[in-house]
Amino acid sequence: MTTVAFAGPVVALRFEDDVLVALDQTALPWAERWLPLRTADDVADAILRLAIRGAPLIGVAAGYGVALALLTDPTAAELERACAVLKGSRPTAVNLAWAVDRVARAASGAGDHPPLAAAALDEARAIHAEELAASDALASHGAGLLGSSRRLMTHCNTGALAAPGRGTALAVVAELAARGRVELVIATESRPLLQGARLTVYELARLGIPHELIVDSAAAGLIARGAVDAVIVGCDRVAANGDVANKVGTYGLALAARAAGIPFVVAGPTSTIDPACPSGAQIEIEERDPAEVLGAASEGGRAELAPAGTRSRNPAFDVTPAALVSALVTERGVVRGPSVDAIATLLGPR
Ligand code: MRU
Repeated sequence: MTTVAFAGPVVALRFEDDVLVALDQTALPWAERWLPLRTADDVADAILRLAIRGAPLIGVAAGYGVALALLTDPTAAELERACAVLKGSRPTAVNLAWAVDRVARAASGAGDHPPLAAAALDEARAIHAEELAASDALASHGAGLLGSSRRLMTHCNTGALAAPGRGTALAVVAELAARGRVELVIATESRPLLQGARLTVYELARLGIPHELIVDSAAAGLIARGAVDAVIVGCDRVAANGDVANKVGTYGLALAARAAGIPFVVAGPTSTIDPACPSGAQIEIEERDPAEVLGAASEGGRAELAPAGTRSRNPAFDVTPAALVSALVTERGVVRGPSVDAIATLLGPR
C-alpha cells in the first residue's frame, strides 16, 4: 500500500481566487488530491459523493456553493436554483440547509449595494470563521468534561476533515492529548464508507495520538469489557429534545456505553442543533446507494464483498435518544443530560 507522507495540520477546504478548493476525501488515505470547485453544482456533487463530508464542513462548503452560483449569475432565479441543488445533496446534517439559508438570506437582503455575490461570499466566510472558532471552544469545554478519561472510543470521522479547525469529537480528543491525558483512542472502522479506518486513523496518526482500529462489531464487547472510559462522537443533527442523529452505528455505541455505565458524549457546534425539529423521529435519515454496502474502497479501486446482485440496505445515520446522551458538548458549553429545556437555554432567544 502506498503511504503518503502528509505533514502539518489538515485543512480540508479553502476558498481562493473565486474557487473552492477541497481535499478529496474519497481518495484518502492513499492520495492527497485537491478538487477545484467552481460552481454550486460542483459543490453539491462533491458533497453527495462524500469528497466533502462531516456536518459542519458540508455546511461551510454549501455556503461557499451559494456564493459561487452568484459569482457567475447574480440573479434571484440562480440563487433559488443553486439553493435547491445544494440542499438536495444530503438530507440529514442540518448544517447544510442552515448554511444555505443563511447565505441566501444575506444575499437577498443585500440589494445592489453590496452586490449579491459579495454579500453571499461575506456570509459564507463568516460561517467558516465561526465554525473554526467553535471547534476550538468546544474542544476546550469537552476536555474539561472528560479530563479523567484516558481511554476513549470514537466513531466515524469527526476531525479536521469533518469540521473546520480541529473538528468536533476529535477536537476534544486532540485537546485532551495536548494536555497529556490520552492513553488510547479506539476508532471504529465505520462501515460502509470506512470514515474511521480511512480518515480518523489518518488524522490520529498525524496528531501522534496512540490509537487502535476495530471493526464496528467489536465495539460493544470491548466497551462491556472495560476497554474504554468513555465514548465520544459527533453529530449530524440534534433535535430540540436532544435526540442525536449521527453516523450509523452510533446508537449501538450509546446502548453499550449505558449498559457498561460509562459516559456517552456527543460533541458538535450549535449549528448542528435544529430547534425546528422536535425529536429524532422527524429527522430524515439518508439512505445511500446499496452498492456501498456490497463493496469497500481500496487503493486504486474497490473490493467486492458480496455476491453480485445481493440486496442490501444502506441507512447512513441512526438516531440516539437523548436519554442515552450523558452530555452534549458545544462551543457555548456543556449540556449534561440534554432535554428540551436545557437545549432551549443553551440556544437562548433566536
Ligand atoms: O456521512 P458522513 O461521513 O458525512 O458522516 C459524518 C458523521 O456522521 C460525523 O460523525 C458527523 O458529521 C459529526 S462530526 C463533524
